Amino acid sequence: MTQQATTHIATIEGEYNLSNYEAIRDSFEWSDAKALLSAAKTGKINAAYETIDRHVDEGYGDKIALHYINDDEKRSYTFKEVKDQTDHYARILRENGVTKGDRVFVFLPKTPECYIAILAVIKVGAIAGPLFEAFMEEAVRDRINDCDGTLLITDQELVKRVPKDDIPSLEKILFVEDIEKEPLQPVDGDEYIEWVDWENGLIIHYTSGSTGKPKGVLHAHRSAQHHIVTGKWVLDIKDDDVYWCTSHPGWVTGSVYGLFAPLLNRATVVIQGGRFSAENWYSLIEELGVTIWYSAPTAFRMLLSKGDLYKQYDLSSVRHVLSVGEPLNPEVIQWAWNSLNVRIHDTWWMTETGGHLIVNLPAEKIKPGSMGRPFPGVQVGILDEEGNELPHGEVGQLAVRTPWPGLMKEIWGNKDKFKSYFQYEGWYISGDLALQDEEGYVFFQGRNDDMINSAGERIGPFEVESKLIEHPAVEEAGVIGKPDQLRGELVKAFITLRSGHEESDHLLEDIRLYVRKNLSAHAAPREIEVMDELPKTKISGKILRRQLKALEIERANKVKN
Ligand code: PRX
Repeated sequence: MTQQATTHIATIEGEYNLSNYEAIRDSFEWSDAKALLSAAKTGKINAAYETIDRHVDEGYGDKIALHYINDDEKRSYTFKEVKDQTDHYARILRENGVTKGDRVFVFLPKTPECYIAILAVIKVGAIAGPLFEAFMEEAVRDRINDCDGTLLITDQELVKRVPKDDIPSLEKILFVEDIEKEPLQPVDGDEYIEWVDWENGLIIHYTSGSTGKPKGVLHAHRSAQHHIVTGKWVLDIKDDDVYWCTSHPGWVTGSVYGLFAPLLNRATVVIQGGRFSAENWYSLIEELGVTIWYSAPTAFRMLLSKGDLYKQYDLSSVRHVLSVGEPLNPEVIQWAWNSLNVRIHDTWWMTETGGHLIVNLPAEKIKPGSMGRPFPGVQVGILDEEGNELPHGEVGQLAVRTPWPGLMKEIWGNKDKFKSYFQYEGWYISGDLALQDEEGYVFFQGRNDDMINSAGERIGPFEVESKLIEHPAVEEAGVIGKPDQLRGELVKAFITLRSGHEESDHLLEDIRLYVRKNLSAHAAPREIEVMDELPKTKISGKILRRQLKALEIERANKVKN
């Protein structure tokens, strides 16, 4: 058994929405979560209604829903204003022929317009396809093409990265600049809302695996049950909270816990534009009085590396901090505890799971190094290669009993891929390795495949390799995640060169930029190493990524010793 940390971080005294984990775990049914939605009474759902309009109907129209901050620019919107704005966008979508089930993409920076556009798409019953703002042409094209997106909402800047001629299904592009110019025509009721079935498509997120192109993970409106209850118990949202999730809605954390879960719970949500800077982040917390903060280990490590900088800011408003996406190292938890006087609550879930599954709740002790315990209603299993459950303390495949409301509905156009997650009867297989201790705490032990996780972002090695070999100098490529102190892993490419090409710094930089420009910045290899030959399987000649990874780990160990 792997050695685990033995020191616990005790609970900070306080009133939490969920105060007794054991009691709730034993009695909770997902229908209890459904009861939190107004749709439970009417039988008709629209997740955008539940997120925004419902609060206006219940008398909270004047409450601030969104604060936007980007350098000197600041704007705030009440729930009523967000309702009017989403109605406005929804009207324009309808006028442009959007109907239930259409795939409508949103390619915008982290701005209120991005959140409003996503909600408007959902209002009219269409499926929202949010795209991360740093995507380049190929990433944009592959995603819209895969699910035949018919309409795109973007701006004059990002449209430069949309290769329209290569996307035959795309009938229209709407620009926020134009939408904003049209006069508002506020309505009181639900004129623009398409009431749908719980199984109707809600949002599609593309995510990478170890093979092939990114896959379209489709979620249904039923996920709102999962979002609302985890927002209440894990995010611990109360009415006076100012909530900030640092992720862009193009990633599932940014949509589910940056948009749906907090707004379903009527929080005031902060949207921060621009890039990461420790100074900006700390001053944002101080200025807006952020109380709940959801981010990722790489970001916390970047703040930690700034040493005492935090002392220059008043961060006392922060009462609850959460983390997701990659292993949260105990040193970071200790740093936050010692310097900021807060506990960081790790959470585990995936694009495919649509919501939290393993969590650290604010009223429970934290075991640094653990991702927490199963959310009420969730049963975790650690399975061997035959699908049998392993005893406590043994490392195996991290699996979850099906179903639960946030679980993906399908992988767009790829039934085989969808089935591959459910190869053992009654279980969802995550692809992660983990162990669970006697008290139910789950400890992450790595991936069971070649997927790369750099700064919490999932990167498929195949995608990067395919792009690399398009470069005229590259013959073959094998891409791995190299262990890295700051980012968890960094993307490293091993390549062989075509004859006639000589290795040089200039050439390697050219290759790196080629991936960066055509695929995306986060997937571009930070390191490229030229080899005479890549290791391959004898029979099929497949590149052995695991051998390349083993080589890197061996080198790192040599340096340490
Ligand atoms: O390997 C796990 C890692 O991120 C993967 C899911 O990535 P993605 O779909 O992009 O979703 C990220 C956020 C929902 C998982 O299979 N991962 C996620 N959370 C953790 C984690 N690894 C370690 N600790 C976590 N808390």
